[in-house]
Amino acid sequence: MKMTPALLVIGGIMVFWASVFIVIILPSIVWQEPPSAAWQPWSDDEAAGHDLYVRNGCSYCHSQYVRVMDWGEGAERIAQRGDYVNQLPAILGTERTGPDLSQEGGEHPEDWQIAHFINPRNTRPLSLMPSWEFLGMRDIRHLTAYVRSLGGKDATFRAQRQEEWKPQAADAYAGGPAANIQWLHDHVPAPWHPMPNPYPATDAALQRGHKIYQDFCAGCHGVVGDGNGPAKEFLNPPPLNFTELRDHLVGGQYIGGIFYYQVMNGITGTGMPYFKRELESEKIWDVSNYIAVDFVGYTDAETAPLGIDASYEPEWKNNYSLPGADEK
Ligand code: HEC
Ligand code: HEC
Repeated sequence: MKMTPALLVIGGIMVFWASVFIVIILPSIVWQEPPSAAWQPWSDDEAAGHDLYVRNGCSYCHSQYVRVMDWGEGAERIAQRGDYVNQLPAILGTERTGPDLSQEGGEHPEDWQIAHFINPRNTRPLSLMPSWEFLGMRDIRHLTAYVRSLGGKDATFRAQRQEEWKPQAADAYAGGPAANIQWLHDHVPAPWHPMPNPYPATDAALQRGHKIYQDFCAGCHGVVGDGNGPAKEFLNPPPLNFTELRDHLVGGQYIGGIFYYQVMNGITGTGMPYFKRELESEKIWDVSNYIAVDFVGYTDAETAPLGIDASYEPEWKNNYSLPGADEK
């Protein structure tokens, strides 16, 4: 057959459409991804929030895709194809300037999300996330509904836990400081109650604690520990006033273990987040000593019975003699 220009053009067009059919059209007809076990459809508000998420470029900083190698970041669940059914465009994201959000739903109660969207520095003093106050409350509520949905059925489960605990925490707060502190401490498991802070409250430790407090806690608990941080106006119950705590601890009762437990795990139903992913053991003890000394007025650090040392901290490190030094 003779190769004429017309034949070349027609051939080219046929090859083009054949490729489009095989690569784009065929898969969309034949390949319907089944939803994963956690998938669930969006409500109207959630869909509106997704739209805002795309339009405002949240994916420049946030991914929504946890891979096997992200396990170390504390990811609870590896993303599956079926998680993204009907979610167009699917927001996978390559940048991680901010944390991955694929499991954000129910991580925090809604009042935390609103305080954070209005100004991320409210809840996290060092955050570089922009403020979204200019969007107005309606859009912020849509964004909140959307991030609450992230994680599908797992997210709904976590969000329901938050919603179940919230009225109980708010009631306890309304009952006055004594009842509130009793309520808060009743939920800390018993072994933590008689546990003092195993780290000595040295000047260096207190300064470390001060820095951690300013970077992570001051937005809520306030620079002087009175609970008057900028997030206060959004949160119910409001952030704890540590100076009030001082008057309600019975006779110098131990507080180290209780603080440690609360900071590590957070308090479900309240704005108090958990810090076990961000702060390692010693940092939590240091910030606990700082709060105890500066705001509550005393620390139980290094009183008997001594609590648990961090496992990586061998005894010789604390008394400056190397292992086996005595034998030489
Ligand atoms: C310039 C980068 C940037 C942009 C743009 C951005 N974020 Fe963030 N975001 C961050 C950083 C950094 C953090 C972690 C610090 C913090 O909590 O603010 C964060 C935290 C978050 C968190 C809280 C995660 C958690 O549980 O601690 C949510 C929810 C969130 N962003 C949603 C959004 C949404 C929705 C948008 C778009 C409207 C957005 N972000 C835009 C950087 C960004
Ligand atoms: C987003 C706001 C927020 C941030 C950030 C925050 N907290 Fe809290 N915190 C709260 C709220 C709300 C409560 C519970 C108040 C209540 O139920 O009355 C609380 C309670 C606590 C308690 C419980 C005290 C007790 O006696 O049971 C401790 C300890 C605590 N926070 C320490 C910290 C530390 C340390 C940081 C920083 C590493 C921090 N918080 C960051 C809001 C916050």
